[in-house]
Amino acid sequence: MGKFDNKVAIITGGASGMGRRMVELFSEEGALVIAADINRDSLQEVDNIEGVEGLYLNVSSEDNWISLTKQVIDTYGKIDILINNAGISSEKTVQDITIEDWDTMMRINSFGPFAGMKHVIPYMMEQKSGAIVNISSYTAQIGMGLNNYSASKGAVRAISKAAATQYGPYGVRVNAVFPGVIQTPMTDGLKESGETLKSLIRATPLQRLGTTEDVAQAVLYLASDNAAYVTGAELVIDGGFSAQ
Ligand SMILES: NC(=O)c1ccc[n+]([C@@H]2O[C@H](COP(=O)([O-])OP(=O)(O)OC[C@H]3O[C@@H](n4cnc5c(N)ncnc54)[C@H](O)[C@@H]3O)[C@@H](O)[C@H]2O)c1
Repeated sequence: MGKFDNKVAIITGGASGMGRRMVELFSEEGALVIAADINRDSLQEVDNIEGVEGLYLNVSSEDNWISLTKQVIDTYGKIDILINNAGISSEKTVQDITIEDWDTMMRINSFGPFAGMKHVIPYMMEQKSGAIVNISSYTAQIGMGLNNYSASKGAVRAISKAAATQYGPYGVRVNAVFPGVIQTPMTDGLKESGETLKSLIRATPLQRLGTTEDVAQAVLYLASDNAAYVTGAELVIDGGFSAQ
């Protein structure tokens, strides 16, 4: 028996990186997984995985969220799990960030998870159960020089805790995960600067970068019934980097 037999899960950003690994892992555990992503080409690949349906979603569009949730409810009748994972990054400094950069980052990384919760929670309240995991970042907790990105992930941290307290009485759990530097297409650029990569690894107590598996396993735990009494939690997956 799988941990997610008969469960319906939406995973945003499910076509790449850690979202892609979550999609595989959740379907291996028996879930019917909706991999929702803006990248139609990569979506086609995940759509071929058994138990996975790839659906287009731009998380920054409220209309897209309304259509997606309606389609999932019309087809499968319920939504048990929502993983707000889709996101973009930037390493621009304060003086280089334009107003447009700021708005785009906030719209995708902060409004996206908010809109997801807004449109999924009513169904979960009706069911009197649901598990939401929002992917923040360790840069929301420590100063890593990622200005608008850190701000967008700080908002995810705050809305996760607020929603956990508001919807706990309705059986809806909301937790947040804070990955450190994880090897995905998002961090590919690090390979080009060998010295930065080496110094990052040296500065990490567990002496390596994180993998998509490290994060996907943490998310799986929080979304599963093994975490039935866990809500409002902040799980840092960074090899000990931010503990220093
Ligand atoms: N890789 C890291 O080191 C790291 C560290 C901390 C947090 N994170 C966060 O983890 C999450 C996943 O990142 P990843 O490293 O797997 O990156 P990735 O670039 O491999 O995957 C991100 C996915 O999100 C999708 N996406 C982007 N904008 C979207 C939109 N508007 N609507 C729908 N989908 C959209 C992309 O198409 C892609 O499939 C992100 O929220 C990221 O900020 C990553």
